[in-house]
Amino acid sequence: AVGYHSEQVLDHCNKPRNMGSFQKNDADVGTGLVGSPACGDVLKLQIKVDDSTGMIVDACFKTFGCGSAIASSSLVTEWLKGKQMEEALSIKNKEIAKHLSLPPVKLHCSMLAQDAIKAAVKDYEAKRANLQPLHQLHH
Ligand code: FES
Repeated sequence: AVGYHSEQVLDHCNKPRNMGSFQKNDADVGTGLVGSPACGDVLKLQIKVDDSTGMIVDACFKTFGCGSAIASSSLVTEWLKGKQMEEALSIKNKEIAKHLSLPPVKLHCSMLAQDAIKAAVKDYEAKRANLQPLHQLHH
């Protein structure tokens, strides 16, 4: 069914920011691929991290999701740039929903974005841990 969309949602749907992909295997890229249990939609969100500062320098997404999922991902790729990992993890779906004026039935769409951020950070950190020589891990 066609639902109500706020102006902010429409703006992001008409002009999605940072749609695309990074090279999944690059050492400075973290990839989060998540699906929504509520609707089955899928979102891929990627971050590019500056290894020396731990700062997220770029972010992009691809989704086969509804308009609210597109808007949520588009918005968070903007928010992620310039953030440290911990700050990125503190982005909550409620903030996203509030910013986009999502109706309650669309809350799970913003949840998808929050989950994807977590998954992307986790992926990046796992890659980094693997790259690190063992003796450095014990500092
Ligand atoms: Fe599936 Fe919005 S309805 S992500």
